[in-house]
Parts: sequence; structure tokens; C-alpha cells
Amino acid sequence: MIEDIQALILGDINIDLVFKMDRDLKPGDSIALRRMMISYGGVGGNLSSALARLGVPVSLLGAVGEDRFGDLALRELRRSGVNVKYVRRIAKEFTGISIVLIDPRGERTLICARGANAAYRLRGDELELLRNVRHLHISGYMMLNDDGGASCIKLLSFAKKWNISTSMDLEGIALKDPRKTFKIKGLVDYPLMNEFEARSLLDAEKLGEDEVKSLKDLLESRALLIKLGEKGCMVVEDDEIQVIPTYRVRVLDSTGAGDAFNAGFIYGLLRGLRIGDAAKIGNALGAYKCMGLGARHHPSMRQLLKLFPELAELILEM
Ligand SMILES: Nc1ncnc2c1ncn2[C@@H]1O[C@H](COP(=O)(O)OP(=O)(O)OP(=O)(O)O)[C@@H](O)[C@H]1O
Ligand SMILES: [Mg+2]
Repeated sequence: MIEDIQALILGDINIDLVFKMDRDLKPGDSIALRRMMISYGGVGGNLSSALARLGVPVSLLGAVGEDRFGDLALRELRRSGVNVKYVRRIAKEFTGISIVLIDPRGERTLICARGANAAYRLRGDELELLRNVRHLHISGYMMLNDDGGASCIKLLSFAKKWNISTSMDLEGIALKDPRKTFKIKGLVDYPLMNEFEARSLLDAEKLGEDEVKSLKDLLESRALLIKLGEKGCMVVEDDEIQVIPTYRVRVLDSTGAGDAFNAGFIYGLLRGLRIGDAAKIGNALGAYKCMGLGARHHPSMRQLLKLFPELAELILEM
């Protein structure tokens, strides 16, 4: 039977260990807390579970270790409805871990060891998966892998050949190795990034109309999506640049807002919406995520429409 995989996601799968600090940390410090929280993270895991929650058949590519954290991460993804059949378990590597320290003012410090994520390498037979896929999304962290980003480039090249739409979040790679980012030139229809990442790629202080247009040309993409936090997002197309405001919500925790945005945007593309309208769904998912704790506070379509009823005319008309 041919599987219905509307979206294929390649990205990190992590376990987050979250410590809420009762005071600021000093060098050489020792802090004993009563409790901590284990939560599920990694951009690949977050994005695919957001899509699954919206009812999209989604498969995840990536890797975890053969450890207990790997068991936990996969169990949670399965529970969310993500197909993890193709997630590799790598012996001798540990599952990606993020230590999240939240200081008394709510500010987060993140320490991440990517472990198995960084060792992921595409296998030839995995390319076959693309035959049933409508959209491929890759996290830019995967460009930092031990294979030098070769797996990403190969997947993208095949997707291009087979006319599958593609997106990549330039997180990680844009700040760490801007030059390497341009290896994706001509291969990614919709590069997604935030303001810092866009400025890092251009080595520019400001992000005006000329700058964003030149970045779009340099990447040879169909459109650029620049996430602007509480201001919403900027959509850069050939003939127009628009800033699309997001929704005003009570923000509890913005962790994973970028991943939620990406999921909403991809959902819109899969429904055949115009790029600007798909970005509106991205904003809605990002804003919804900010209203709850943890990286995976994602809505079902019913919950999303209840909170933002004006989206119904975009989504239900299709
Ligand atoms: N305070 C907020 N209020 C409403 N919506 C928000 C807020 N912060 C973020 N969003 C929504 O989430 C989207 C993504 O957030 P952001 O711009 O912070 O992306 P990012 O920097 O890639 O995030 P991340 O740190 O998760 O990678 C925004 O474009 C916006 O739609
Ligand atoms: Mg981001």
C-alpha cells in the first residue's frame, strides 16, 4: 500500500530537561532544586507534531539513540500521530538533549547536545519516500551535521527533480555558518528565518526592502518568510513585500513559536493557499503556541478556528 505522506520533515528530535532556577547562576555555583521537568522538543519533533495535530499525515526523518530518552521521544511522537517509522536509532549515540535553565525573570538559557541528530545520514532507500510526499521541510540544524549537510542537499535536489515543494528553516546554520547556507541556493522554495538570521546571512545591520529582496534573489527562492516575533512576519515575493501582523495573545511561553509558525505555513501550502494566506495560518499557530507552556502547545483545527474565527474563510472555503 502506498502511504499517504503529505509532509516529510527532517529535523532534530530532543528531550528537554527544564530547570526553573530560584536565583541567578554564578560561575562555579551549585544549585539544588526540588524538581525539574522533562519535556519534548527538537525542531523536527515539534513541527511534525503540530502538523499531525492539524490532521496532516506527516512522517519524520531523523535519529535518536538506543537509550531511554530515545524511547520516550518516539513514544510521545507516536502518541501525537506522527509517523516515526523512518526515524533511525543509532547505537553508540545518545538522544539529543537540551538543558533549559529558566532564571527568576523567566529568561531562558539553552544548552543543547545534538547527539544522534548530528550523526543522521540519509540512506539511499529513504529517497524513495519522496515519491509519496507533497511537501518536504528541513531544519537548518541538519546542515550542521557530521555529513556536512550532504543529506539535506540530496533530499532537496530529489524533491526539486520530482516537483515537490520545499521549505527550510535557516535556524542554526544562518548564524553559525552563513556561507554554507547558500549551498541551498535554488533548492528551497520557501526559506524561513527570523530577523537575526536574515541579518546574519546578509551581514547587514538593517533589514530594509532592498536587503530582503536581494536575499531572496541570492537564495533563488519563490518567497522568503521572515518571522518577526510579536510583530508577525514578513513575506517577500517577486512583486511585493508584506508585513502580516500576528494575533494579540496573552504570552506565557514563546518556546517553539518558530516551529509552530512553520507548521501553520506548511499547512496553508498543503491546502493550496496563497503564500500570504499560508503565512496568516503560521502567525495563528505561532500565537497559539505562545499562550501555553512548553514547545508543543499546539491546537487542533477546531481549537484554532474557535480562537481565530476569521481564519475560517481561508480554510473552510478550500
Ligand atoms: N508575543 C507574540 N505574540 C503573538 N505571536 C507571536 C509572539 N511571538 C511569536 N509569535 C508568532 O510566532 C512566530 C514565530 O516566532 P518568532 O518570530 O519568535 O520566530 P523564531 O525566532 O524563529 O522563534 P524560535 O525562537 O521558536 O525559533 C511569529 O512570526 C509570530 O507569528
Ligand atoms: Mg526560529
